[in-house]
Amino acid sequence: MTPDEFAYAADLIRARTGFVLTRDKGYIIENRLSPVVRRHRLKDVGELIGLVRGGAADLAAELLDAMMTKDTGFFRDWKPFAHLRDETLRDLARARVANKKLRILCAGVSTGQEAYSVALTVQESGWFPSGWTIEILGIDLSLAALTVAERGRYTQFEVQRGLPVNVLVDHFTKHLDLWVLDESVRRMVEFKAWNLLDDLAPLGAFDVVLCRNVLAYFDLSSKAAVLGKLRRLMTDDGRMYLGATETTAGVAEGFRAVDAGLAVFARA
Ligand SMILES: C[S@@+](CC[C@H](N)C(=O)[O-])C[C@H]1O[C@@H](n2cnc3c(N)ncnc32)[C@H](O)[C@@H]1O
Repeated sequence: MTPDEFAYAADLIRARTGFVLTRDKGYIIENRLSPVVRRHRLKDVGELIGLVRGGAADLAAELLDAMMTKDTGFFRDWKPFAHLRDETLRDLARARVANKKLRILCAGVSTGQEAYSVALTVQESGWFPSGWTIEILGIDLSLAALTVAERGRYTQFEVQRGLPVNVLVDHFTKHLDLWVLDESVRRMVEFKAWNLLDDLAPLGAFDVVLCRNVLAYFDLSSKAAVLGKLRRLMTDDGRMYLGATETTAGVAEGFRAVDAGLAVFARA
């Protein structure tokens, strides 16, 4: 990949996803794009970038998808899920007792484990007897990740990462070499392809927003823009969960920390 090809790819990735790559990260582009190069029987990453530059929209979408870090797991960092169950959902169950409706957004949901962990937390919390409508929406720009999410089937390796054995036994069935999540949990979650850099207002309002381990790769102005849009989606008493090492401090206005250690925020 020439410096010019790198510059073109890095600019495209930054403009369309928010993901910033400095010149020393050329190897990341090479590594992540080589499966796309092989799949399309191209000569090298340079040829792929040339085709994208020439207007190949499908290849551009594949390139962006391949560049995303999709690492995830069930109940990742588990403490925010305990906070969600014991504090946020308890408070919202009391506050919404009249209309019995709750909406939760998982922004940058990857292959679905985070949204299903939220659904399992809602079920297990006991705060929502029958009659409640709980909508959980997972959005991501990666169509490859969303395809996995929608299937709700995970490998042994994936369920071993964070899923307590009792939850696995109670809510999954082994089918051949995959663990299939129960329909009752799957239907609590809907997935949509959506770019966080686009307008988020059509998604509607949310009582809880999770945007964990997504913005870490964004430049400061994209982070601020996305956080501002997520804030506008939040109800007045809503809560937002960021990744363990992420914060709104010094990035976006209009938030206060509910639990800074767990990266839980509310509107200021
Ligand atoms: C590292 S994963 C985090 C998954 C999950 N939130 C977690 O913490 O386990 C980041 C996800 O954010 C998605 N993503 C990155 N930029 C995005 C954007 N601009 N719009 C929507 N999704 C994006 C990626 O495709 C990827 O699936």
